[in-house]
Amino acid sequence: MGLEFISNPSLSKRTSLRLGGTAEVEVVVRDKQDLEALSHFLSKHPMRSFVIGEGSNLLARDGQLDLALIRAETPPGPERVEKIDDTLIVRCGAGQRLPGLLGWAQMAGLSGLEGLTGIPGSVGGGVAMNAGSYGTEVGSLVTRVRLWTPTHGLVWLDREQCEFAYRHFSTTVSMPDSLIWEVELALKEADPKKIRTTMQTNYVKKKATQPVTAKTAGCVFKNPENDSAGRLLDTAGMKGVRLGDMLFSDIHANFLVNKGHGTCSDALELIELAQTTVKDKFGVTLELEVITL
Ligand code: EPU
Repeated sequence: MGLEFISNPSLSKRTSLRLGGTAEVEVVVRDKQDLEALSHFLSKHPMRSFVIGEGSNLLARDGQLDLALIRAETPPGPERVEKIDDTLIVRCGAGQRLPGLLGWAQMAGLSGLEGLTGIPGSVGGGVAMNAGSYGTEVGSLVTRVRLWTPTHGLVWLDREQCEFAYRHFSTTVSMPDSLIWEVELALKEADPKKIRTTMQTNYVKKKATQPVTAKTAGCVFKNPENDSAGRLLDTAGMKGVRLGDMLFSDIHANFLVNKGHGTCSDALELIELAQTTVKDKFGVTLELEVITL
């Protein structure tokens, strides 16, 4: 099939926050046969590269960025690969959308992912960030991950070689410049109707407490230990604080919302203001959860 190259890809069109400038190039990989060519491209063009996924946890800088975006549109899935008692091992390409995997699991009567209802993004992004909500983290379901690096090629890593922590994924073996190619998850057989009801309940709860339909990048800051960044920001008066078209959500203070023509520089100024305010008031340093490009 061959790699596809897109010049000057717009980051505002590729991120859920809908802001940011343009990268140098986007390289679309559709087949594992193309990974050799990707390796060749990266060695010939030694610029920063970033696997973009669905762009849902990103704050992209304004202007021209010296950056190659990699998009892995990996083969179809999800698919069942093995059944061990009532546990089903499901394999899914990293480029699939996480909500699509949840929809498939619900119809297939496979339980485990319900807590992740309402989280946008790709399956690979969900693994890379160990996305989580309502007591479920992607990492808790992962049995193995297939990574690709320019030097190692495609390698399956077992669960024991993966380290998942709060919004964190790394590997015990060194895998520099790795791309998540596909992943296997352990799900349990259950009644599809029950799974659907749980997903619906979670979605209703999420919609009532988070700006799920607005242009956001999810939670901006990680929760400090034993506390909620949203609660701290809210108590510090950050809800509704606005600069240009960017503001902290009135629904949940840990979400920055782009009202239309928001810029990264406004977002960064608001982030700094929020960090200073929370530090002054509570002595707590808020760490970014969103990845700044
Ligand atoms: N709260 C406020 N004001 C706010 C927001 C929250 O007072 O503006 C209070 C809530 O009332 C509640 C507490 O803070 O008592 C915790 O709030 P919530 O249940 O909304 O959870 P959270 O800690 O703010 C975390 C994750 C979310 C995840 C939810 C649900 C982080 C940074 N956030 O939010 O994940 O959806 O739990 O499990 O870990 C994300 O990571 O992008 C994200 C959205």
